Amino acid sequence: MILVISSSLHPNSRSRLLAFAACERLKKMDRPFELLDLVERPLPFCDGHSAYGQPGVAEAIDQVQRASAVLLASPVYNFDVNAAAKNLVELTGRAWNDKVVGMLLAAGGRGSYMSAMGLANSLMLDFRCLVVPRFVYAVGDAFDDGQITDETALVRVDQLVEETLRISDAVRPADTNPAS
Ligand SMILES: Cc1cc2nc3c(=O)[nH]c(=O)nc-3n(C[C@H](O)[C@H](O)[C@H](O)COP(=O)(O)O)c2cc1C
Repeated sequence: MILVISSSLHPNSRSRLLAFAACERLKKMDRPFELLDLVERPLPFCDGHSAYGQPGVAEAIDQVQRASAVLLASPVYNFDVNAAAKNLVELTGRAWNDKVVGMLLAAGGRGSYMSAMGLANSLMLDFRCLVVPRFVYAVGDAFDDGQITDETALVRVDQLVEETLRISDAVRPADTNPAS
């Protein structure tokens, strides 16, 4: 199963549209996936203590654990992913071990394109994730009226999904079976 995470808490989020586009691509490829949308499934702040027992956390850990690869769609906030994405990683911790991870970012400006690297470093060093060296990075003019209107952005989403599956299937051959 491929887990698609949408971490924006904005009601009209653009990065959520990137997550939806990734889900569409997975559907077309007949690959099983689940969507974890943090607007629909709000999580408590990680305190390293009792938060792990709060509603929704065990389900999130289970979802990440069952995934062979994770596609994380996040807003860029302060040259980083948003705090909700970081909080999810803090809450789910070791469930990320050895995952293949692809990232899709929506940003306000073109200059923040390296904003996924902080999280990428921590996923690699903490959890030995294989971070796909291809990012989707889209700014405001790629979207209009709740849709992705930039053809290049859509192509990049497809490329990221395909590349993530290619790597994940190569390192975890059991997952090449679409039914798994
Ligand atoms: C608190 C905050 C910080 C932001 N920081 C950046 C930034 O560092 N670089 C940037 O390009 N855009 C930044 N933005 C703009 C957002 O990345 C942009 O609005 C994006 O569409 C948000 O994603 P979303 O629509 O999925 O919520 C920031 C927006 C907010 C609200």
